[in-house]
Amino acid sequence: MNDISNPTASECGAFWAPFTPMRQFQQHPMMFASADGMYYTTTDGRRVLDAMAGLWCVNAGHGQPKIVEAIREAAGRLDFVSSFKMSHPHALQMAERLIAISPAGMEQVFFTNSGSEAVDTALKIARAYHQARGDSRRTKFIGRAKGYHGMGFGGLSVSGIGRQKRDFGPLLGEVSHLPLPYDAGMRFSAGQPRQGEHYADALTQLLDIQDPSTVAAVIVEPVTGSGGVYPPPQGYLKRLREICTRHGVLLIFDEVITGFGRVGASFAAQAFDVTPDLITTAKGLTNGAVPMGGVLVSGAVYEAFMAGPANVIELMHGYTYSAHPLACAAGLATIEVHRELGINQHVNAVSGLWQSAALALRGVGPVLDVRTIGLLCAVELEPRAGAAGARGSEVAQWCFEQGVLVRGSGDTIVISPPLVISPQEIAQVFDTLAAALQQVA
Ligand SMILES: Cc1ncc(COP(=O)(O)O)c(C=O)c1O
Repeated sequence: MNDISNPTASECGAFWAPFTPMRQFQQHPMMFASADGMYYTTTDGRRVLDAMAGLWCVNAGHGQPKIVEAIREAAGRLDFVSSFKMSHPHALQMAERLIAISPAGMEQVFFTNSGSEAVDTALKIARAYHQARGDSRRTKFIGRAKGYHGMGFGGLSVSGIGRQKRDFGPLLGEVSHLPLPYDAGMRFSAGQPRQGEHYADALTQLLDIQDPSTVAAVIVEPVTGSGGVYPPPQGYLKRLREICTRHGVLLIFDEVITGFGRVGASFAAQAFDVTPDLITTAKGLTNGAVPMGGVLVSGAVYEAFMAGPANVIELMHGYTYSAHPLACAAGLATIEVHRELGINQHVNAVSGLWQSAALALRGVGPVLDVRTIGLLCAVELEPRAGAAGARGSEVAQWCFEQGVLVRGSGDTIVISPPLVISPQEIAQVFDTLAAALQQVA
């Protein structure tokens, strides 16, 4: 094979990248050769601080030796075994250890290969749960504005980002959306905004409109992630929980981003002390090293499936690679590494510093808002007149050239570093971003 570390446009030819303007990519491909700890090395030899944890997933830092070794060992021992009517010891162990760090009440895990599959699985479990209880009218879903739930048809249907749906024709019918619990009075608030619990009452109104006895589940990210990092107002999730319980509607937390330490607990459900019926997880679950997702299921939901004859498949659903041996090995090692490094404790120790560094961007250049919680942050910029998104991508590009990888999502800069980030690295990230904001007027 030729060395294509620094490919020409024609060498990019066959590769169609996700969520990427292909012709721009082919002209200026951003190429990485290796990664270690907090850093990437580009194919032209530059070290770049990864302030995105890959794509919100490398929570314990790149190349964790224990995780790398576990994957190597598993690949040499058991390359593949199906999970349909059989399994392997690491799958059972992975399920058990995952439940051990999950909120009390979660008792079962259904493994998938991505966050999108986890979301579609959770939606199917929700409908099938009501069906199993003889309540077949409950088929509707409620999502929320700016929610991102992956790219399957189910997840896309409940997502709250219209421009991602535009090209794909009819999605699931029977989906409605809660408003984003956010207003201008919440700008520049660190952590959970104090006012805003009342936004949960929109659920009561939606249920009234829909007829609550036809609704299967509400799905929300505890902290809106890709849609722009919106922490939940204090009391909001608890009130959602109460309303769902009152109406027999399942509550799904999509924790693909918030799981695995991002807000200082294994799951945001624990950080916010609100337990849903189903939790989706992926990304940090294997530290991004092998694709894996999963749905954590409450004991009560699982039990509802176990009422029929024992020889009948209770959930007609699954994937060839559910509980893949390499993913289970990576996941087990990830849980161990989180424990050994005390990652949740580290996040709680440095998140005050992180949040004040983030809020110090107030008043710098075109900054309209800063939203931050745990080790997550979004810096929203005023769009340049007639060129929405240009400022965001120029700021991200400038940071990259200065050695810090942040994500430009439209005119919002999103930062979500590996959770092992040091105080010095936090300063480096925000100093670089501040300089970029001054440069890119
Ligand atoms: C909250 C949430 N759910 C689901 C997904 C989809 O995950 P994947 O890209 O692994 O399919 C993502 C991805 O960013 C996400 O942030």
